[in-house]
Amino acid sequence: MKRSFCIVLCLFLFRLVDVRAEDGYRLWLRYDRIDDPQLLQQYLRNISSCTFPVTGSETLSAARNELTDAIPGLLGRPLHYTTTPSANTLIAGTPASLHELTRLHWNSNLDRLGDEGFIIRRYTLDGKSGIAIAASSDKGVLYGVFAFLRLLQTHQSLENPDIVSIPARRYRILDHWDNMSRNVERGYAGLSLWDWFTLPTCKDKRYTDYARANASIGINGAVLNNVNANYLFLTPAFLEKAAALADLFRPYGIRVFLSVNFASPIQLGGLQTADPLDPAVQDWWKKKADEIYRYIPDFGGFLVKANSEGQPGPQNYGRSHADGANMMADALAPHRGIVIWRAFVYNPTAADRARQAYDEFHPLDGKFRPNVLVQIKNGPLDFQPREPFHPLFGAMRETRLMLEVQITQEYLGASNHLVYLAPLFAECMDADTHTHGDGPTVGQSISGMAGVANTGNDIDWCGHIFAQANWYAFGRLAWGATPAGIADEWIRQTFTNNTTAVDSIKKMMMASREIAVDYMDPLGLNMIFAEGHHYGPGPWYDKARRPDWNSTYYHRADSAGIGFDRTPTGSNMLEQYAPAARAQWEDVKTCPDQWLLFFHHVPWTWRIHTGRTLWDQLCYQYQVGVDSVRWMKRCWERLRPDIDEERWAAVKMKLDIQEHDAVWWRNACLLYFQTFSRTPMPAFVEHPDHTLEYYEKLQLHDVPGTGR
Ligand code: GCU
Repeated sequence: MKRSFCIVLCLFLFRLVDVRAEDGYRLWLRYDRIDDPQLLQQYLRNISSCTFPVTGSETLSAARNELTDAIPGLLGRPLHYTTTPSANTLIAGTPASLHELTRLHWNSNLDRLGDEGFIIRRYTLDGKSGIAIAASSDKGVLYGVFAFLRLLQTHQSLENPDIVSIPARRYRILDHWDNMSRNVERGYAGLSLWDWFTLPTCKDKRYTDYARANASIGINGAVLNNVNANYLFLTPAFLEKAAALADLFRPYGIRVFLSVNFASPIQLGGLQTADPLDPAVQDWWKKKADEIYRYIPDFGGFLVKANSEGQPGPQNYGRSHADGANMMADALAPHRGIVIWRAFVYNPTAADRARQAYDEFHPLDGKFRPNVLVQIKNGPLDFQPREPFHPLFGAMRETRLMLEVQITQEYLGASNHLVYLAPLFAECMDADTHTHGDGPTVGQSISGMAGVANTGNDIDWCGHIFAQANWYAFGRLAWGATPAGIADEWIRQTFTNNTTAVDSIKKMMMASREIAVDYMDPLGLNMIFAEGHHYGPGPWYDKARRPDWNSTYYHRADSAGIGFDRTPTGSNMLEQYAPAARAQWEDVKTCPDQWLLFFHHVPWTWRIHTGRTLWDQLCYQYQVGVDSVRWMKRCWERLRPDIDEERWAAVKMKLDIQEHDAVWWRNACLLYFQTFSRTPMPAFVEHPDHTLEYYEKLQLHDVPGTGR
């Protein structure tokens, strides 16, 4: 009786642990037991013990802690540390911190890795062989440890690892659009992770888990607050809170940045002006920078949104973006801080919003201080499901650039839709700007990447298990990995190593961005989202106080056709691209279908490359989008045996919402555009179950699953 009670209790407790473990909190850092017995034997054989620097920096301790926590989970036995390596001892460290590594004479190789790269390869020392994780910096060791654990999590062989990894770009930063109220602008996963109310005293374990997750994918910076910045973030009370976070992130190689409001000298300093050429203003920023560095000695710098969407900036005083950025850069330079100045600018008077950033910033090329980086969104509009690459890439040869992408799904179904964003990010990074003949690609023209974060205090961090993949992919892409490989390793770490299941999930992920384009914005359409929340369709919207905040400004549908003419007969935004890049889009006859309506106003009856008329093709793609979401649902249904019940069900419910929304998008958009095309929908389109008036009146709170 007693025994059976114990068994029942154990099962119950096991279930409890299990349930807690499958809420998505652990992200991709799960470290569960290797379920392939042969592989487990191989790993046990190859990791007999570990030699690790006994003392060292906080970063080395973080790396050691990760190994200590992960190995028992993965291999089922604790990691035994030893100061005298024997056969198959794992060695991890730098030549400076570990004598054994000096004896390997790898120094010339390690010096080439810079201050973040690492090597994982076999060594032989005193006739004994094992695996070494070696770097020339402690940060490199930390990244190497995470990469080593990833080998185990993704079931790679440890017989002969040969990895040399160096990040492709220096700055790999998450931008949090988090407000002081803990509300997150365009956040769909709960409140901000930063509990400003209890900081700096309470150091939630979650802050460290956040840092671990970032370090595991190579993210090395975090902008803590919203680009629409509240000046109060620069007050001593908040600097102290930011410093507490910086202290927790530092061991994981993450530097903290702040978004700053350009008018802070007025709002906070009581000055009459924020004119960047005014000596009192310059002095105010210098003193503020000095003060910040007293709180955070390795502070990264400022992120600035200026003269954009109502934010103050140097143009308020007749000065240029370069004047504003350089003034802040001079204040930060003595501390080695940087200014990240955003090029997301547009105003209602521009004939074509897509032109404006180039028109304002290109003449300033070469005028920025060396510690200024100009941060440019991937496309010339605003994080749409598909845009061409921004024409400033490659064109500002004398300026350091950052690429800004949006991980949070403001225009891609929030945290309700499964949309894997690596193909979207990579489409931009791989695009050839042709500004120097062949090349550079966008990815080659940048010194860093910023991703607008999708994190929040939801238990699963991102509001959708698959949204975690977008955080993961951002870090790995910024480091230099490829989209399909990233999906593969994320699935293996997050769900399963079963090859059939991995392939099936990967197919869904790799197709998902194109599917979203089909049911939201096919053929190069964009900016047709409902006003304000940007979740559902609103192609009819024309009531904004600024024309460029209306959907009708972007799609320009009329009885003749649809699309924005950006050729010389229209806004000629195309002239901002190098000739070879322009050539792919400028002729309506040869422009690839996916960009067609971004660059051309096309008649409804125009035959496009598929042989269908434009109207029929539009109908076709909206329908394909819906059908493809249903295909994803069927795939997920078949994956049920491979996924734990809790995460399987969570994703399934979200796919139900996605199907609902895809139908909503198709019906609303086709009914609306039909008022211009005046052509029946082809038979393959399901008949809309509501009228256009119904969709026009639909409010977000009337729609299932969008309560946030
Ligand atoms: C978009 C978004 C805003 C954000 C802005 C920006 O317009 O809707 O919420 O502030 O981008 O990037 O600054």
